Amino acid sequence: MSQAQPAPTSPPPTAPATDPAKPADIWEWFDEKFGRRQFLLQSGWAFFWVFLGGWLLSNLRYLFPNVLYEPSLSFKAGKPEDYPVGVSEKMKKTHRVWIVRTDKGFYSFWARCTHLGCTPNWFDTENRFKCPCHGSNFNRDGDVIAGPAPKPLWRCAIKLADDGQLLIDKARLENRGGAREKDDFFLPYAGA
Ligand code: FES
Repeated sequence: MSQAQPAPTSPPPTAPATDPAKPADIWEWFDEKFGRRQFLLQSGWAFFWVFLGGWLLSNLRYLFPNVLYEPSLSFKAGKPEDYPVGVSEKMKKTHRVWIVRTDKGFYSFWARCTHLGCTPNWFDTENRFKCPCHGSNFNRDGDVIAGPAPKPLWRCAIKLADDGQLLIDKARLENRGGAREKDDFFLPYAGA
């Protein structure tokens, strides 16, 4: 009696050879390293917090608006004795005013052309202010004598401060004939 021979078996299928050091794709690598779900979750939260932080910062910025710190409109211009009779441009660069001394007292102009706002220059020999932009001319009283300017130059309020210095206030202006030569817009000066 012959013994039954076991049926020949085929060798078990072998998995395709892979390089364990080299994952098949990037997701697999993340999966191995951190876990893909965790990675996606953490990335989502990171984006959320970055977005929220940016939004909060941009809103906080509105609580601190840009502020322009300009020089005060009121300022001291030194002692009257510092000014000889005539038009002084001493304060033009820092405060944009001229200070005029006559034999009766002081007044002050805002050095701004009444046409479009350029800064005129004083010409002593011609006895006039001339605007370089469109040619307006103003006399020593501030009246327009040439060019397109529609109104006289503005005078600033002027008085003596407690310490004896000239105090100019550019917040108070006047250019009407009859009003500009008195009250706060002309400072009689005994020493003139
Ligand atoms: S701005 Fe002075 S003439 Fe135009």
